[in-house]
Amino acid sequence: MKTEVLKIDGQSLALSKQIIERGGVVAIPTETVYGLGANAFDTAAVERIFEIKGRPNDNPLIVHVHKEYDISTLVDKIPEYAKLLAKAFLPGPLTMVYKSKGVVSKAVSCGLNTLAIRIPSHDGAQRFLKYVNLPIAAPSANISKHVSPTTAEHVFADLNGKIELILDGGKSEGGIESTVLDCTGEIPVILRSGLITREMIAKVAGECGEYVYKDGMRAISPGMKYKHYSPNCRTVLFDFDELDKAVKLYNEECGKGVKAYLLCDDETAQKSSVKNVLNLGKDENEVAANLYSKLREGEKTADLIIAVAPEKQDGVMVGVMNRLTKACR
Ligand code: TXA
Ligand code: MG
Repeated sequence: MKTEVLKIDGQSLALSKQIIERGGVVAIPTETVYGLGANAFDTAAVERIFEIKGRPNDNPLIVHVHKEYDISTLVDKIPEYAKLLAKAFLPGPLTMVYKSKGVVSKAVSCGLNTLAIRIPSHDGAQRFLKYVNLPIAAPSANISKHVSPTTAEHVFADLNGKIELILDGGKSEGGIESTVLDCTGEIPVILRSGLITREMIAKVAGECGEYVYKDGMRAISPGMKYKHYSPNCRTVLFDFDELDKAVKLYNEECGKGVKAYLLCDDETAQKSSVKNVLNLGKDENEVAANLYSKLREGEKTADLIIAVAPEKQDGVMVGVMNRLTKACR
């Protein structure tokens, strides 16, 4: 199958609609990462997503809709706090889990009685969703376990020959996946951290819990138990105060002829003064935006990526650390 990469315009949107309506999948840009979308009403199309990605079939998908879509046709029991959060943060990188009405394919939620809904803010995503006017089930558009894609080129690298069309909407500005928030209980609970932080949610909703998955526990959000975000090379992660150890390892490995890279924020990069650096940038938003592209850039040449955690670990960095820890496992 030939994979086309097209900028978003009337023609490519019309093609994307045709593909979706006949049960195919299309890669789409969002403000977080690129998604691999299919019609959420069409079981065969949704199953195709799992097959293409090699995704475990108990890890449910998020349904994406445009900002005027009436989500009360898809889900039930939207609590008051969720309405406030939607008003404050949507469209944007916040996915909200509600009780499902069971109208989309059962394959979307992998048998759970809930449904995760996301209204992305990316202009290209909105245009696509409005044009097809269907709920679109879409995980990140990478091969399962690999680093998520933040450009059309990243999607192409993983899925060339496996899908017909990639809509190219430029670089995803956010860089890490949306915050997934359970809105089925008394208070909202974060299932996956992201750019909309616990502090931001608590400010609007009054309270916000956070679900921490530990091995062996029953996962509320099945995605949390899987290996994820891993580059195709060896990785190791050091704490922010272990830079000396990281540099020592870097020098030892380089001495053995291993191509090693240090992955860290700008402050640590300046302190380290080593040659091969994957610099994630200065503040938490830059670091999130660059994380996946730097991991993908690194894996092209590196035998070993030595990551050093940022000193700041709250706010958006909670999400960054969650991804970085899994990438380096
Ligand atoms: O930013 C994003 O969310 C991107 C873009 C494409 O929108 N999508 C994304 O999808 O990251 P994916 O499939 O890589 O991650 C979906 C996460 C998983 O952790 C999954 O377990 C969780 O959402 N999830 C989906 N439906 C759920 C549900 N009904 N209940 C609990 N967790 C759910
Ligand atoms: Mg993913």
